[in-house]
Amino acid sequence: MSGPNTSYDPVEVGALTPESIDAAVSDALAAIAAAAALDELKAARLAHAGEKSPLALANREIGALPPSAKAEAGKRVGQARGRVGGALKERQAQLEAERDERILLEETIDVTVAGPGRAIGARHPLSLTIERIQDVFVAMGWEIAEGPEVEAEWFNFDALNFAPDHPAREMHDTFFVDPPDSGLVLRTHTSPVQARALLQLDTSGLRKELPIYVAVPGRVYRTDELDATHTPVFHQIEGLAVDKGLTMAHLKGTLDHLARTHFGADLRTRLRPAFFPFTEPSAEMDFECWVCHGEDPSCRTCGGTGWIEWGGCGMVNRNVLVACGVDPDVYTGFAFGMGIDRSIMLRNGVSDMHDIVEGDARFSAAFGMEV
Ligand code: PHE
Repeated sequence: MSGPNTSYDPVEVGALTPESIDAAVSDALAAIAAAAALDELKAARLAHAGEKSPLALANREIGALPPSAKAEAGKRVGQARGRVGGALKERQAQLEAERDERILLEETIDVTVAGPGRAIGARHPLSLTIERIQDVFVAMGWEIAEGPEVEAEWFNFDALNFAPDHPAREMHDTFFVDPPDSGLVLRTHTSPVQARALLQLDTSGLRKELPIYVAVPGRVYRTDELDATHTPVFHQIEGLAVDKGLTMAHLKGTLDHLARTHFGADLRTRLRPAFFPFTEPSAEMDFECWVCHGEDPSCRTCGGTGWIEWGGCGMVNRNVLVACGVDPDVYTGFAFGMGIDRSIMLRNGVSDMHDIVEGDARFSAAFGMEV
C-alpha cells in the first residue's frame, strides 16, 4: 500500500493552475455577459458551470492532490465557481427582468385603440317606407291616424257596408277572435279606421271636425300561409279624405303624387274598375312597370303586362258616410288602401316575402342605415 504522494506538484495538474482557473473564470464571465437571452444563458451555464465544465473538471481533480495542496486548490476552485455562480445568478435576474418588462410592453392593451366595431342593427325597410309615405301625406296637410289591430267586426265589415252574408266577408279570409261570439276579428284591412276617423274613434285622437284628410298606416291580417309572395300579416296605407266637392280626380291626383314620390317622377298610373262594398265607384290602382315601362313582354317585374297592381280605391260609399253620421248630400269623400310590403318588394326587387318578415338585420341594412 502506498502512502500519500507528497512529491505531487499541483502546478503540474493542468486544470488546477491559477492561470487555467482564471482563464476558465474569464471565459465563463465573458460567455455569461454575452448571453443576450435566457436560453443563451442556459447554454453558458451548462458550458461553464455544468458537470463537464472546466471548473467542474478542475474540482474533480482536487481529489487527486496531496492533502497539503488540497486546501489551496479547493479554495481557488471554490472561489472561481462562486464567482461564476454569482455572475450567472445576476445575469439570470437581469434577463428575467428584461423579459418581464418586454412581456409587459408587448401585452399592454391600448384602451384608446378603436375597437373592431359593433353592429348597431338597422331599421326595417317597412318602418322606413311607412315613414316616407307618411311624410308625403303630412306634406300635403293630412293627419296620420291609427286604429286597433284587434277590431270590432262591425268596424271591419258592417260600417263598411259589407252585408252580413256578403261573400266579400269570406273573400277577406278573416281571423276571428275567440270566443265565436266575441264580435272581434284581427282587422283584414286598414279601412275600419275610415269609420273610426269619421266617428272620431280612431286611436290617434287628432281629428276634430270635417273636413278630414287622414292617412292610416298599419298591420293587417288574413289567413294566408307564409310563402314567397304571401304573409298572414302585412301592411297597408289607408287614405281617407272627406270634404265638400271631392271627386275621383282628387283621388287620382293624390295617388299619382304618392306613386311619383315613392317610385319615380315619370311614373304613369291607371285606374281599373273594381268592386268594394265601401266605395262606389271603386277601382284598382295600377302603376306603370318602372322596369320595362310596358315594353318588355317577358319582364319579370310586371309579368309582361306593363302594369303593377298597387291597391284598391274609390269614392266613399254613401252608406258608409251615413253609417258614420256624415251627410252624403253635403260631403263626398275618396279612400284608398295600398299594400306596403308589396310596394317594397316591387320597388326594391325583393323576390321573397320571407326576407321581409324574418327581421334579419343584414337584409334591413341593405336598405341603408337611415334613422
Ligand atoms: N281595404 C281594401 C282592401 O284591403 C282596399 C280599399 C281601401 C279599397 C279603400 C277601397 C278603398 O282590399
